[in-house]
Amino acid sequence: MNLENKTILITGGTGSLGKALTSHIFKNFPEIKKLIILSRDEQKQFQMAQEFPESQFPQIRFFLGDVRDEQRLVRAFQGVDIVIHAAAMKHVHLAEYNPDECIKTNIGGAQNVIHAALQTSVSNVVALSTDKACAPINLYGATKLTSDKLFVAANNIKGTNPIKFSVVRYGNVMGSNGSVIPFFMKKKAEGKLPITDATMTRFNISLQGGVDMVMHAIDQAWGGEIFIPKIPSYRITDVAKAVAPECTLEIIGIRPGEKIHEEMITSSDSYNTYDLGKYYTILPSVPHFDLDDFVSTFSAIKVTEGFNYNSGTNAEWETVNGLRLLIKEHVDLNF
Ligand SMILES: NC(=O)c1ccc[n+]([C@@H]2O[C@H](COP(=O)([O-])OP(=O)(O)OC[C@H]3O[C@@H](n4cnc5c(N)ncnc54)[C@H](OP(=O)(O)O)[C@@H]3O)[C@@H](O)[C@H]2O)c1
Repeated sequence: MNLENKTILITGGTGSLGKALTSHIFKNFPEIKKLIILSRDEQKQFQMAQEFPESQFPQIRFFLGDVRDEQRLVRAFQGVDIVIHAAAMKHVHLAEYNPDECIKTNIGGAQNVIHAALQTSVSNVVALSTDKACAPINLYGATKLTSDKLFVAANNIKGTNPIKFSVVRYGNVMGSNGSVIPFFMKKKAEGKLPITDATMTRFNISLQGGVDMVMHAIDQAWGGEIFIPKIPSYRITDVAKAVAPECTLEIIGIRPGEKIHEEMITSSDSYNTYDLGKYYTILPSVPHFDLDDFVSTFSAIKVTEGFNYNSGTNAEWETVNGLRLLIKEHVDLNF
């Protein structure tokens, strides 16, 4: 998609994905009109403004705001063409302990983004989801599933407004804030790494992989899709071996709300899931577009009934050596 002259707003723009998107957009679309970063904490915005100084990036704007505040979003969305909704509470155990807060941000925030986008001239909204939204067992996942449902259903209430709402769902982002690799790197000085369960697996995606998916959704969505990447899994024990082969592993037991394996597509989703080549997409059970037209445009192939996409039964796996290379490339150059 040509983003020339477009104004883009990223909620949660000071987070891991927001910053990676900001770099990507300035590098690949220097002719954009404006890029607005919306988040709450002035300190994070201050730091990001040093990384992206206005002298070098004259189109960047920083907008303090909370996605819980619809009026503030309406103000922020004035003149915006594309909204990328990345703001979220994402720590599983904090959501379990503070459920009201998580609901207000992840569900209330999603509703506010939709309402504000419908009241302004926004034409494209891409919302970030997570594998934890698939058959959720924790509150974080449940709130993100609700958010996904809200964004998919928003296409039903847009009337003649040509706006499109779509969702991008993926697994653990290598090296993102609060993720396992930086955690292990910090812990390795103690000579012992805590492992919740020796059989635990996760999907693995790089930040750039996440950015590419968001750009794909901006470019290709017809509205109502949940896009899912085809990505490898890793065993948590292999991550530990890759980060610190010298450390012993201490099994500490699974934490509240955690799964042994993650899923991105359940067998019940298979009835509405299509293979697009690089990605899968789960379509709404009643899409607002012509399904045959969609299938022929994207050469989409319906997955077999009962298909599911699970990190424990994935066909593609990261190896310990492969993980070491990825950590060097994506997390820490000095590793
Ligand atoms: N990282 C992963 O492994 C992963 C995997 C799958 C999906 N995701 C999804 O991808 C998205 C981005 O994740 P990330 O890793 O970039 O998260 P992150 O680094 O934790 O950043 C979260 C961002 O959201 C902002 N934020 C939080 N609450 C807010 C609120 N009420 N109003 C406005 N801004 C708020 C934060 O800034 P302030 O605190 O200053 O407001 C920050 O900019 C999330 O939706 C997450 O669920 C992440």
